Amino acid sequence: MILSVVSAKGGVGKTTVAANLGVLLTKRGIKVLLVDADLASGDLTLQLGGKAGPRGLHTLLSSEKVSEEDVTKTVSSAFGVPLLPVIPSLRGYLKAKLDLFPTVLSTLEDQYDLVLMDTPPGINKNSIVPLTESDRVLLVTTPDPVAVSDVSTSRDVAVLLEKTVMGVVINRLRKSFLFGSKQLKPREVVNTLKLKGMGIIPEDKAVEESILAKKPVVLYKPRSPASKAFTSLARSVAEELG
Ligand SMILES: Nc1ncnc2c1ncn2[C@@H]1O[C@H](COP(=O)(O)OP(=O)(O)O)[C@@H](O)[C@H]1O
Ligand SMILES: [Mg+2]
Repeated sequence: MILSVVSAKGGVGKTTVAANLGVLLTKRGIKVLLVDADLASGDLTLQLGGKAGPRGLHTLLSSEKVSEEDVTKTVSSAFGVPLLPVIPSLRGYLKAKLDLFPTVLSTLEDQYDLVLMDTPPGINKNSIVPLTESDRVLLVTTPDPVAVSDVSTSRDVAVLLEKTVMGVVINRLRKSFLFGSKQLKPREVVNTLKLKGMGIIPEDKAVEESILAKKPVVLYKPRSPASKAFTSLARSVAEELG
């Protein structure tokens, strides 16, 4: 089962959702592999401490042929969660051949209950190839109209590719007294998208601090409002996975 965390818009929280879900679903006893499929940024690898070994996805994707041994050797681990990392390098990124990505994934898929993939923003080959390889899709948006509009495009692409859209995560919800005209209410987001609301993560300084500390917020500040929200998101995702 490959589940991708997706949104056409950058900066809405895909990587943060993937990192924290990876930790929490692992704690729930699911055998998870996190895949950093944002080849240009390697943000997931960085958020998880960036302590990957010398090999990353770039190395694999620039090989002539991908062997099972090479793939297995490239999987590192962060906070107890297996991770297929990206070692950020412009040269490595330019050499990487996305056509090899399906082979890499199919080599690993059977070894895990869940392959949880962080994907790049945009609607282009970099985002479509990981999406094509996914079984299910978890969309992420902020409550801002532009982000919601962009994620509706992602939903449409996922549907076109015949993927099961699990639902949407609303991230960075500000407190109601800060509600400007620019922030939609969660109910409005879910109704506009006609998707199941999987979870609401509040705007929380602890998330920014955790990213600077290179440790998922659910481990960095487990009692913070964002961490509590991630815990209930993980429960909803686990229930959907069955
Ligand atoms: N719930 C939140 N509260 C506060 N800041 C957040 C929250 N979620 C994400 N952020 C901030 O937004 C930035 C972008 O998040 P990220 O997960 O990298 O987005 P994406 O992967 O969609 O580009 C993070 O570096 C973090 O500082
Ligand atoms: Mg990201």
